[in-house]
Amino acid sequence: MPGSDAHALIAAARRARRHARAAYSGFKVGAAIETADGTIVTGCNIENASYGLSMCAERVAMFKAVSEGHRRFRRIAIVADTAKPTPPCGACRQILWELAGDLEVILVNFRRETGRHALSEILPLPFDDRSLK
Ligand code: THU
Repeated sequence: MPGSDAHALIAAARRARRHARAAYSGFKVGAAIETADGTIVTGCNIENASYGLSMCAERVAMFKAVSEGHRRFRRIAIVADTAKPTPPCGACRQILWELAGDLEVILVNFRRETGRHALSEILPLPFDDRSLK
C-alpha cells in the first residue's frame, strides 16, 4: 500500500544501519525494502580497503531481496545520520530501477523523515531494457 505508514520499514532500516561496515568513510547507511507481499529485506553499506569494491546499503538490500526470490517491490527506506536528505547514489538508482521499477523512496535520519520521492522523479530518462530495442 503506497503511502501507508512506513514505521516498521523505517525502523528496520535504522536497525540495519547498525551493521554498516564504514571504516573508511565513517558514513553509515541502512536500507530496508518492502516487497509486494509486505516482506521487509534490509541492507547496510559494506566498505573495503580497496575502496571501489565498497557496496551501498540500497544495493545490498536489493540484491538480497532478489536472491531470496522476491520480484515485486513497493518502497525503500534509506537511513543516514545527516540533517539533509541522503538520496541514493546514481548507481543505486539504476539498480533499483532495473530490479524494482518505480519504487517509493523514503529518506530518513535518526529523528525524522527528510524526503519522499518516486524513483522515476529522481531518475528521469532512465536507461533500461526499452533502450536496448
Ligand atoms: N552510501 C550508501 O550506502 N548509500 C547511499 O545512499 C549513499 C552512500 C555509502 C557508500 C559508502 O560506503 C559511504 O556511504 C560513503 O559514500
